[in-house]
Amino acid sequence: MQRAFTTGTGLGWHEHHPLLFSGTERFFRAGYNAHLVPEWIPALDGVDERLRAGAKVGDVGCGFGTSTIVMAKAYPKSTFTGFDHHSKSIDTAREKAREVGVADRVSFETAGAKDYPGKGYDMVAFFDCLHDMGDPVGAGRHVRETLAPDGTWLIVEPFAADTVAENMNPVGRVYYSASAMVCTPCSLSQEVGLGLGAQAGERRLRKVAEEAGFGHFRRATQTPFNLVLEARA
Ligand SMILES: C[S@@+](CC[C@H](N)C(=O)[O-])C[C@H]1O[C@@H](n2cnc3c(N)ncnc32)[C@H](O)[C@@H]1O
Repeated sequence: MQRAFTTGTGLGWHEHHPLLFSGTERFFRAGYNAHLVPEWIPALDGVDERLRAGAKVGDVGCGFGTSTIVMAKAYPKSTFTGFDHHSKSIDTAREKAREVGVADRVSFETAGAKDYPGKGYDMVAFFDCLHDMGDPVGAGRHVRETLAPDGTWLIVEPFAADTVAENMNPVGRVYYSASAMVCTPCSLSQEVGLGLGAQAGERRLRKVAEEAGFGHFRRATQTPFNLVLEARA
């Protein structure tokens, strides 16, 4: 950690103590259980209907796969693949899918955001991970290439306003701390090393989506802790 701060070379997700991985899952799980199916997916244009009918969904940077499993339980006709470049998290995600009994419609694969396999996804989701990536624009370009022509990129990011001054509140303080210790070093450790961090804000995230070639971008909904963003080609 000291090396990361003194050299600026960053610290990869996999270099942290394993409790970060389980702690992150516990931190975000309540939000996904409460909001993802009843609020966030219905706020996207036509996506709930598509997932009810049977759609192909990718969940990139899925960690322990909690968001993937929450969606799979709600949409039994759809198929879901969770991707993460951290293979130990993928092992845990597979175990969880088996325990919950959704392994028939969910699979998990170790893959990075710029090279995960498959094409024709109706939705590709990034939950609380785009800002951790070194090359979020490159990741967005890969999403464009792998989405169906009318597919949706769902980006859930920590809630943030566009200026530091506006983020000087209890939620912003928590996220800036996590960002300095985990998210920004993670991004700096990867190719490009953009270092968006957990308080990027909608304006900066819109720029990422536009640079990746997405023509439509909007805030679909929000909670005090989450920005829920929708991008389409
Ligand atoms: C803050 S965690 C979020 C995990 C999960 N989406 C959740 O909400 O619980 C960020 C995740 O992004 C993954 N990640 C970071 N950079 C990545 C990349 N370039 N490609 C794929 N996964 C990446 C990390 O391994 C980690 O599991």
